[in-house]
Amino acid sequence: MAGVNKLWGGRFAAHTADSVEAFTASIDVDARLYRHDIEGSIAHAKMLARQRILSSREAQKIVRGLRAIQREIESGRFPFSPADEDIHMNIERRLIQKIGRVGGKLHTARSRNDQVALDLRLYLREELEKILGSLEGLKLELARGAKRHLNIIMPGYTHLQKAQPVLFSHHLLAYVEMLERDRERMSGCLERVNDLPLGSGALAGTTFPIDRAYVAKLLRFPRVSRNSIDAVSDRDFVLEFLSASAILFVHLSRLAEEIILWSSQEFGFIELPDRYCTGSSMMPQKKNPDVAELIRGKTGRVFGHLHALLTVMKGLPLAYNRDLQEDKVPLFDTVDTVKASVEMMGELVRWVKVKKERMLAAARDGFMNATDLADYLVNRGLSFRSAHALVGKVVRFCLERRCRIEQLSLNELKRFSPKIEKDVYAYLTAEAAVRRRRAIGGTALTNVRRRLKEIGV
Ligand code: ARG
Repeated sequence: MAGVNKLWGGRFAAHTADSVEAFTASIDVDARLYRHDIEGSIAHAKMLARQRILSSREAQKIVRGLRAIQREIESGRFPFSPADEDIHMNIERRLIQKIGRVGGKLHTARSRNDQVALDLRLYLREELEKILGSLEGLKLELARGAKRHLNIIMPGYTHLQKAQPVLFSHHLLAYVEMLERDRERMSGCLERVNDLPLGSGALAGTTFPIDRAYVAKLLRFPRVSRNSIDAVSDRDFVLEFLSASAILFVHLSRLAEEIILWSSQEFGFIELPDRYCTGSSMMPQKKNPDVAELIRGKTGRVFGHLHALLTVMKGLPLAYNRDLQEDKVPLFDTVDTVKASVEMMGELVRWVKVKKERMLAAARDGFMNATDLADYLVNRGLSFRSAHALVGKVVRFCLERRCRIEQLSLNELKRFSPKIEKDVYAYLTAEAAVRRRRAIGGTALTNVRRRLKEIGV
């Protein structure tokens, strides 16, 4: 008696319920793996022929059939069917339809479990290479921005309270450092993606004399997985990508937040071009930084995807479980979100208009030279602690008088400490404050220049 009409239908006496078919199908989501699925199948078929598990004629027919299917998919003529669950079965079913029984030999020595693990790795490897490129692009965009605005002084903040003057270029280069670490994390992830799982079978390996090294060579995998149970149940590489993406979005959302703050009327440090803003349906005067807000907002889904997959994986018994099918939405949506957001952020950074007078004016008040006055006194023999206390009193005095430190007369200053001399005024300017912070990593122009050179802009 024939089984039901599924590729796996032999042992079934009753048809799958429609509701189950709809519930378990993943074709809407995983159709995007078609190219990787076909690439993997072609390599598998070639290996089967090389090992004489298939004849070379059979393998040729299969390869040709698979290429024809790829063309069908790419021209929109492929009959996708949820009844065939996922992309793997849709393609296999179509292959058998097209080339007949020999199509049924493709799945020799293979399971969907090692097949889907392979497809995901091929997919993520390709996407990671693109993502690495766009992270480098954003990094360079920030570095070029730093170079264009090399010597602009702005207030540096801690607790969002004015702290010490810094170069705007130095501030931008802080994001370059973050992105550099993001790139490192992504390329570490890429290294571990590059493990060939195909050949693990359903979980235990295969009885056929396959040549995994050959498949690895065809598909450009430097390594072959060493444990079949792990290979079909491991999704660490997806988790790693999701967590690297989550950290990347910590950075993107912080930059987005600063862009939003700085373009507000209250700060006015930057202006976004009209092309990168949107208006309000009610308030005619509005020009809103929606792009930056959306990047900040999309952080929610990227964090959520990491949490979702961690939860899927937690406590799963070895080896493959259908739960693993739930890895795809988090992975695909994170890939899409990362690519789109990194690109948009690059455009924002490129076109933002910097209002240097506003930045410098903001850097002049707020007692941002108070630490410098303390350093000045330390250079004249005071301990830092007593200099700190003394300058605190100077600040309090200025607050009462509603003036800046450098607006006090030398006599007034000398009342706090006789060690203060006329040269203090030059010492207390924002420019001098920046110039003195020359120790490696500090905001001095010399450091910024050196770093820009290292980055190569
Ligand atoms: N669509 C499945 C997934 O994404 C493919 C593997 C199915 N394997 C199985 N034993 N049902 O995980």
